[in-house]
Amino acid sequence: MNITNQRILKDDILKKKQITADTLGEGKLIEGNTLDVLSKIDDDVVNVGVTSPPYNKQEKHKGWLVKNVVYDVYRDTMPEPEYQQNQVDVLDEIFRITVPGGSFFYNHKIRWDRGNMYHPMDWLRQTKWTVKQEIIWDRMIAGNIRGWRFWQVEERIYWLYKPIGNKLIGKELRSCDAKLTSIWRGVPEDGRKNPHPAPFPLWLPARVIISILETDTLGVVLDPYIGSGTTAVAAKLLGHKYIGIDRSEAYMEMASTRLDNAPGEMSKIREEQGLHFVKGTFKDRKSQGKHVGKYRNTDDENEVIQPSLLER
Ligand SMILES: C[S@@+](CC[C@H](N)C(=O)[O-])C[C@H]1O[C@@H](n2cnc3c(N)ncnc32)[C@H](O)[C@@H]1O
Repeated sequence: MNITNQRILKDDILKKKQITADTLGEGKLIEGNTLDVLSKIDDDVVNVGVTSPPYNKQEKHKGWLVKNVVYDVYRDTMPEPEYQQNQVDVLDEIFRITVPGGSFFYNHKIRWDRGNMYHPMDWLRQTKWTVKQEIIWDRMIAGNIRGWRFWQVEERIYWLYKPIGNKLIGKELRSCDAKLTSIWRGVPEDGRKNPHPAPFPLWLPARVIISILETDTLGVVLDPYIGSGTTAVAAKLLGHKYIGIDRSEAYMEMASTRLDNAPGEMSKIREEQGLHFVKGTFKDRKSQGKHVGKYRNTDDENEVIQPSLLER
């Protein structure tokens, strides 16, 4: 079966490891259960991934976690040990299909259910990935407004790294990313603009892709729970290929339509790109004989904005 020219594929037509970098075309949206679909992708295909999986939010307890998030074909109610094992299996499959030196950004939250706290690190430590960083996503709104605890306004994003051999550290970020910190502040996508119940804001996958992939090389970007297609849109607008997986046919169609209209979302990508820019790096200033000591306030507009971040 020739799959090269189709954008949306169904899992049941695919053979094990049939999806390779060569068969991707511009990218693929694949409808099916994430774990099954991942087995159809060859080893070492993906350069970077980002996702927000279902959180196992137990709708049957009247949405104690995220009351308004109800997916169309998926009920988010597994027994917790089964859910965590499924996430370990999914993350290990993503490890297999990611190139050595590649990264995966996993958005989740600390959940609390009637006295039990479930922390994403509970299962991330059981995967093959090296956990590189825990990023706080300050969403500036509360997901759970019931009064047992202080309002939880944040979610977490885990930067997972696939080492090359036994080198666990990986390469340095470029100096153009030096303005970013371990706290990412930004409200979730406006529900009136995107009918999916839990979409990413476009800046989030864009930030991940810009930070990890060089602009002049073609990369493959994965989102194994693609929903309305936000990650694929970011990948396409930044000149990379995408692989998006979801079990909902309706969300696949939504993502495909969004990809057709992607140029209309370019202004949000440009906004994010503006954050990955410094006027002069430590190295530049040193070579020009400029001040390279501790931060000092300066009116010289060629000076870097936050030198202290670059100097550590
Ligand atoms: C939090 S949403 C992702 C939203 C996405 N980031 C966006 O920007 O629209 C999670 C998605 O996972 C899908 N999903 C849940 N369980 C799945 C499974 N086992 N296999 C494939 N997709 C699944 C749901 O249909 C939903 O669209």
